[in-house]
This record gives sequence, C-alpha cells and structure tokens, in this order.
Amino acid sequence: MDKLSKENLPRHLAVIMDGNGRWAKQRMLRRIVGHQKGVETVRLIVEECSRLGIAYLTLFAFSAENWLRPKTEVKALMALLKKYIRSEIARMMQNNIRFNVIGDRGELPADINREIDEAIARTSGNSGMLLTLALSYGARQEIVHAARQIAIDAASGKITADSIDEELFSDYLYTDRIPEPDFLIRTSGEMRISNFLLWQLAYTELYFTDVNWPDFDRNELAKAFRDYQARERRFGKTSDQLRVSGADARRP
Ligand code: FPP
Repeated sequence: MDKLSKENLPRHLAVIMDGNGRWAKQRMLRRIVGHQKGVETVRLIVEECSRLGIAYLTLFAFSAENWLRPKTEVKALMALLKKYIRSEIARMMQNNIRFNVIGDRGELPADINREIDEAIARTSGNSGMLLTLALSYGARQEIVHAARQIAIDAASGKITADSIDEELFSDYLYTDRIPEPDFLIRTSGEMRISNFLLWQLAYTELYFTDVNWPDFDRNELAKAFRDYQARERRFGKTSDQLRVSGADARRP
C-alpha cells in the first residue's frame, strides 16, 4: 500500500471506539477481555497519532449512558481506566503528550479523579498532542451544562444576552480552546453519533469502518486518513469558491 502522506492530515481526530464486546463474543471470551484488548489499541493509536503530528486526539472512552451497563462491567472498565492513566503517564511524557478529560467528572469515582488530576498536572507542560478522554461524557448533557452556566453568568451580569453567539457558547463547552474535530472515526459498523460532541461535529468528516476497535491498527488508521485526504471539505460553500479563496478560507 502507498505510504501515508503527512500532508493534509486532520488537526483534530475524534474516535468512537466501538466493538470491544462483539470482538470478545466472536472469540467466546468475556466482554472485559475485549476491553482489555481495546486498551492496547488505545496505546497503539495514541502513539501513532502523536508520531504523525496529529495535534488533538479525542477518544470516547465512557459515555454518560455507559453507567447503565451491568455493575461488574462498569467496575471493570473503571479499573482498566485507572490502570491505563497511571501506566501511561511515563509514555505521555516520552511522547510530549498533554492529557485532558471532558465529561461529568463529578460522576467518576474519587480514585479515578485523583489519577486524572495527577496525569493532567504531570503532563501540563508538554507541547505535543493533546489527548482528551471523554469520560462520563454526553453531548446533550454538555450543552445543557453550558446553557445553565450561561444563564448563571447572564443573571449575575457577567455577560449580556446580546453577547451570546456561537463563539461564546463554544467557550462554555467542555471543549473550549480545542478546535472542532476535522475527522471522526467510528469502529464496528455502527453508523451513529451516540451523543458524542454533537455541537462540535457540525462540519466534521465522518468515517465508519466494520473493524472492531480491538482489531483497529496502524494500517486501518492509515486507510481512514487516506480516505480523509481524498475528501473536499466545503463548509457549505461551492467547490469553485474554495478554489478561488484557498484552503485557509475553508473554515466557517
Ligand atoms: C465499546 O465497546 C467501547 C466502550 C464501552 C468504551 C471504550 C473503552 C475502551 C477502549 C477501554 C477503556 C479505555 C481506556 C482509554 C483505558 P462495546 O462494549 O460497546 O462493544 P459492543 O458494542 O460490541 O458491545
């Protein structure tokens, strides 16, 4: 296969890592084994994205709705997360990666929050890729949370109703200061957004693959990036307009 060009890669890649359970079931293994294998894929893809110079990588690791899974699975996922964050700090330092979390952290167990705080603090001086894990994350909840904060600030006179526009609204989301994703990958053949980054995905290029997350590898990532590179992002404009104004004028 052709070598992947480093030109025109997404600045921000978002991933819905799906299919751990099915991967395990197909092999008559317990679901948790699929999640364990999924963590290995997380390591691989984080390192590869950092190597390729991706500036922002956002991974959907645990949704607000995932709390409804059987207690044993939730517990096992939390244990995996804790182990992952703790064990990855050294590798993040080696790769100059900054760690970040979005979601309702108030719902997370205290020991996980401690690991998160530690990882954020330890990696805060790094200048490479920003790795964001979405944990206890739901996009509708995020939007409602932003609206509530805006209402509080408007009531206290900190902002006026007139000043509320798209830019200000974005500043109240968990993703403030992170540019919107250019590319979203969802594995395992499901073609849904599942309450992930609903506001931020407005102009994102979407990519769906049948490959389950534990089987997603460097080659699959390169395949997805080649697909992205072949696309024309118009942001509502016509092709002719883009040719006249040049690539920098493409964003809304
Ligand atoms: C979907 O598989 C995956 C998740 C619930 C979240 C992803 C979790 C991991 C990759 C492991 C933990 C992550 C980190 C960062 C340590 P599924 O169980 O929904 O699969 P299924 O749809 O086939 O049942």
